[in-house]
Amino acid sequence: MNEYARQLVTQAESIVFFTGAGISAESGISTFRDPETGALWSRFDPDVMSSMRGFKEDPYLVWDWYDALREKIISAKPNYAHEVIGRLCGEKQVTVVTQNIDDLHERGGASNVIHLHGGMQVRCTMCKWRGERNELVAGYMCNPRGCPDCKSMTRPDVVWFGEKLPTDAFLTAKQKILEADLLIVIGTSGQVQPAASLANMAYGRTLSINTRDTDHVSNGVKLTGKASEILRQLVG
Ligand code: OAD
Repeated sequence: MNEYARQLVTQAESIVFFTGAGISAESGISTFRDPETGALWSRFDPDVMSSMRGFKEDPYLVWDWYDALREKIISAKPNYAHEVIGRLCGEKQVTVVTQNIDDLHERGGASNVIHLHGGMQVRCTMCKWRGERNELVAGYMCNPRGCPDCKSMTRPDVVWFGEKLPTDAFLTAKQKILEADLLIVIGTSGQVQPAASLANMAYGRTLSINTRDTDHVSNGVKLTGKASEILRQLVG
């Protein structure tokens, strides 16, 4: 293991972990683009499953897809990488900035988690209601995923292609990264902006953990391997 990287972690008082689908791959959740870990976007069309255009064309198809993903997430367990980050939350000032919609960081014990691309909640397409999937009711026009307030169609509370990231989440994430002693980027291909830009924003040091030798983190120490294995060596 890179001794310099280990020292960076030991000495840092504040750390931001910026994570992508790769950190949840070892919990059995498919990534979007990595062929070895499911590559959802080579099996499903992101233009259909992850856009308002696709949703308007066939909301039931998109809803069924997200419900299947939700079931996978609910039955998944946090892996060592989630858990070690959760443990560090009790020892240092830690913020987790994730592109993942799953809740494995929270279930792994992390307390400050910023979701850039939304999460497990759902929201109404017409009114301001936002809540849990199991609160949905029978809506208008035989719509089984109706809003409990106005009966209109609801949607997964995720950021689809062409939609803006939640401004507060992005700005807070950026601020935390600028202030942190250390940024650790884990399991992201860096292909989706503006989230990907965060990987290169740190004033402090940056470590990048990925199973591939990626080049989207330009100014950091690269550690190649599985998130859980590298973190075990880095933090123990
Ligand atoms: P990707 O699927 O694009 O990238 C996953 C990355 O994780 C790849 O670089 C893999 O090499 C790496 N990887 C796989 N297994 C790993 C492991 N065990 N340890 C470490 N690294 C591993 O996923 P994201 O970059 O997260 O957007 O994708 C970004 C966004 O694209 C997602 O948030 C999603 C998608 O469209 C929305 O849903 C809005």
